[in-house]
Amino acid sequence: MLKEKIGFIGAGSMGSALIRLILEKRLVSSKNLWVCDKISEKLSSFSERGVNTSLKIKPMIKRVDLIFIAVKPQDISKVLEDLKNEIRPSQLIISIVAGITTSFIRQALSDEIPVVRVMPNAPALIGEGISAISPSRGTSIENIRIVKEILQAAGEIIEVPEEEQDAVTGLSGSGPAYIYSLLQGLTEGGIKAGLSKEVASRLAIQTTLGAAKMAKESGISLDELRRSVVSPGGTTSEGLKVLEKGGFKSCLVQAVIRGTERARELRR
Ligand SMILES: NC(=O)c1ccc[n+]([C@@H]2O[C@H](COP(=O)([O-])OP(=O)(O)OC[C@H]3O[C@@H](n4cnc5c(N)ncnc54)[C@H](OP(=O)(O)O)[C@@H]3O)[C@@H](O)[C@H]2O)c1
Repeated sequence: MLKEKIGFIGAGSMGSALIRLILEKRLVSSKNLWVCDKISEKLSSFSERGVNTSLKIKPMIKRVDLIFIAVKPQDISKVLEDLKNEIRPSQLIISIVAGITTSFIRQALSDEIPVVRVMPNAPALIGEGISAISPSRGTSIENIRIVKEILQAAGEIIEVPEEEQDAVTGLSGSGPAYIYSLLQGLTEGGIKAGLSKEVASRLAIQTTLGAAKMAKESGISLDELRRSVVSPGGTTSEGLKVLEKGGFKSCLVQAVIRGTERARELRR
């Protein structure tokens, strides 16, 4: 169990999921956790579990070692205003705010404050996400170790240079929506081919999970895995021809690129 005291600003869907996972995995004791949100209803379930809660940011700042910022991008400036003049260089900021750079945060506070930018994705809510992390200058190896230990409660972690965070947003940030579209297509196809909704949905979900697990664990290339399912003149080869004709793969490529561009546009 970590001995550091951890504060959260924002107990919305991502903030509260992270706190819940940290508590479930016993990474930090509830008395070493602080949660701040503008809405008291979002705090009650945490105070019932012995977590310190606050409607204001300032009372929390001096009591914690690490501060997670988990508010929407439009609320970050107000949060930074509250942190300014209160935060010390011995503390660490971990921001999951989409599109907000570490230099933006350090400019608003002080460039002595270490900041780690994190881009989680929606499956983090059930501990199956992937979080890309980018530490600012001045972040110690020990700080990065602690951040990784906390975030592993939400799934896998990958360290990337900060300039790659827009592309991360375009791929793993938006990616779950593309996978849900894929699942919808497979399910609808199954229904049109004569299956019940329940059967089609179960087949689609487990096929996607199983194929992803094979890709992750087998060590075999995607091309080889794909070839292993196709026999000449068989069912899969006919289906793949339809996907190719419809530009399935190139559509996915374009979706990731357009999402990346949009992340850049929004930041500007
Ligand atoms: N959800 C995801 O899947 C996901 C994935 C990747 C990244 N993110 C990023 O994570 C961040 C949080 O997303 P979310 O979906 O959890 O948002 P959310 O549900 O809107 O949660 C943010 C919470 O912070 C509160 N808040 C705002 N300003 C505050 C302040 N000054 N002091 C205390 N509390 C304050 C909000 O209250 P009000 O509602 O009253 O404003 C809200 O309860 C965003 O920047 C998002 O881009 C989310």
